[in-house]
Parts: sequence; C-alpha cells; structure tokens
Amino acid sequence: MTKRITSATLAKAKAANEKSVWLTAYDTISAQLAEAAGVDVLLVGDSLGMVSLGFDSTIPVTLEHMIHHTAAVVRGRQKAWVVCDLPFGSYQQSKEQAFETSVRVLQQTGCDAVKLEGGVPMAETIRFLSERGVAVVAHIGLTPQSVKKFGSFRRRGNNPAEYESILADAKVVADAGAVALVIECVPGELAQTITDTVPIPTVGIGAGSACDAQVLVWHDLLGLSENPPPFAPAYTNLREQIGTAISAWSDDVRKGSFPKP
Ligand code: KIV
Repeated sequence: MTKRITSATLAKAKAANEKSVWLTAYDTISAQLAEAAGVDVLLVGDSLGMVSLGFDSTIPVTLEHMIHHTAAVVRGRQKAWVVCDLPFGSYQQSKEQAFETSVRVLQQTGCDAVKLEGGVPMAETIRFLSERGVAVVAHIGLTPQSVKKFGSFRRRGNNPAEYESILADAKVVADAGAVALVIECVPGELAQTITDTVPIPTVGIGAGSACDAQVLVWHDLLGLSENPPPFAPAYTNLREQIGTAISAWSDDVRKGSFPKP
C-alpha cells in the first residue's frame, strides 16, 4: 500500500532540513501529473477562481467550487497531502462557522487539511479548529482574499511596522496550532526569520528561498498564465505548445486531412 504523506512527514522534513514541494492542483489530471512528478503536497488554492474560472480575484470563489475541485484532486492522488483553501466568507464570521465549513470540506472531499488566510485575527479560530482535530494551514503576508481592503496584490512587509506585524502573525498562528504556514510575497529575510523562529514548516511563494517548502500555482509553473507574477518563472511554455497543437489540428480539419482516410 502507498504510504501517505501527512503533516508529520512535513514536520520531519523541516527537522531534517529537507525541502518539501507544494503545487496547486484543481482537478484529477493535474493531481495525477503533479504527484507522479514527485510533488509532496497538492494545494487546491482558491486561485482556482483566477486561473480556471475567469474571475479577477479570489473573492467570488464559493465553498461549492472548492468542494467540487478538491474532491476531483483527491480522486487523483495516491500519496500526496491534499490541502483545500477555505474561500472568502466561509470562515471569517466566527470560529463556529470555520469549524462547520471545515467539517463539510473534510467530509465531502476526503482532503487532509484546510488553509485559511490571516494571522493574529484568526488565531482564536485556528486554536478552535486545531483543538477539534482539524489540520489547519495558515496563510500570512499577502493575503489575496483581502485585496479589496488593501487595494492591490502588492508585496507585504517592506516597512518596519508591517515586518513586525507579519512576524507576530507567524508566531501567533504557530502557537495556536497551525500545522504549516504559507508566507506569500514578503522579503526573503523576513521569511527566513519566520522559518528560523516557528516550529512548523513554512511554505514560501514570492518569499525567497529560506522557507522549508515552496509552492507555485500550476498555471504559472507550466507557462499557462498570461501574466505570471515576477517570482514565478515558467519551467515550460504550455500556452504556446497547446496553441500550436490546436491550430495544427484545426488546419488539418479545414484541409480535410483529419481524420486520415
Ligand atoms: O490560492 C492559492 O493558490 C494560494 C497559493 C498561492 C499559496 O493560496
């Protein structure tokens, strides 16, 4: 039987100074391909809304969207740890709302953990979930669900006050029982300090190389995004390759040379 990756596996990797690999996935085929290529953690991010569903932020993503896509990812995994993003509005109202949402996600998808955005203001919720058996991944730094409040997807932690408040967020969510911590778009030095300070694995995206793990969005890594962020270099150009294949086939159809007689 395939041995599953768990939160304990990731904690052990941090202790052994071994990097873990996280990648977003949104359906069964992406889960299968990522896992076959050695990815440890499949994150069903609410970036789903922007990369697959045509929204201009993650705000319109619903719990039903997340459950539908996370269940598809779970059907494609054999050993990877699967994390589902709780979408905007599904957990911020109260710790009880967050628990109800998490139970629904865990029961209806079969995933392993939930991820929620926020530091100090979410600490009580993280503690409540953790004490009731839910594995919680916290997400600090740039928190895209707050884009309407901040007005942009700009980098965080560049001034001393923000730097200190993100460091405080990290310590508090770790203390509240989060099992891992995503740190998005902050200076590498801040991510390094957090990684050296908190006992849980840190997962960087646009946060330098010091984190215990790195995560990228599937579409950015594979060259499918039209405007990828500067910290996410594509490792191939699927957008171009897919376009070339589809237009070659279209030409053949129009010429009458597909299908072959
Ligand atoms: O939604 C997402 O894909 C994420 C990653 C960018 C960390 O939260």
